[in-house]
Amino acid sequence: MATARDAGALARSFLADPSRLDVAIKGPQDIVTAADAAVERLIIERLATAFPGDGFVGEEGARSNGEHLWVIDPIDGTANFARDVPHWCVSIALVCGRMVELGVIYDPMRDALYSAQRDAGAFCNARALRVATLTDLQHATFEVGYSPRTDAQSYGRCVTRLLLAGANVLQFGSAALGLAWVAAGRLDGYAERHLYAWDALAGLLLVSEAGGRVGPFLSAEALTAGNVTVAAAPALYPALQSALIGD
Ligand code: IPD
Ligand code: CA
Repeated sequence: MATARDAGALARSFLADPSRLDVAIKGPQDIVTAADAAVERLIIERLATAFPGDGFVGEEGARSNGEHLWVIDPIDGTANFARDVPHWCVSIALVCGRMVELGVIYDPMRDALYSAQRDAGAFCNARALRVATLTDLQHATFEVGYSPRTDAQSYGRCVTRLLLAGANVLQFGSAALGLAWVAAGRLDGYAERHLYAWDALAGLLLVSEAGGRVGPFLSAEALTAGNVTVAAAPALYPALQSALIGD
């Protein structure tokens, strides 16, 4: 947890001097900054010292094997970060076998540290989290994420279905923080047709430990190739899931 906080502080320090950001384009609507690489380095140095022998999978390229695997998104919501939109986070998950044992998401702009341990609940700082208890789509607010890794028409169809059902649909630009907000009951669900493991795993554990329902994500391939992601308040999960993949 101290590592996530320090990582967030390092990322934030780059915002004080935008000339250090060194924004580069990885692909369509996919950017990277000097901060992403520096933060991933810091996290790995800290964890490798504390847990020698563990492996790493990081968005900025870290790949090593170990029985225990740390899955790291140094800055999730990089497009927001690079524009100084204060909605981005650091996301770290610990995977042992096929189980996610630990998930930590740090939102440095709000000093909110979300954490979950399998079978031990989900917290924001010291406060226990529970997902929303809403059952009525007409009052629901979902975040539906999009990236050009999937097709825009399917995204449009998903949003249209939800709107026609009476739900509200938002997109804030950080999947990990969106999932943390589902755990906190601020959003009733989060869905995206493709997320990488570093975007999704910590947040999915937070949602399930906060009493939410999450779709199956982790398989051997999903660790590097990613998967479809759905997480919601239990009563609203079926509607969100079928809106997302109903075509
Ligand atoms: C992206 C964000 C975005 C989601 C994309 C992700 P990045 O990660 O989580 O909200 O919709 O699918 O790739 O590039 O900001 O680390
Ligand atoms: Ca990400």
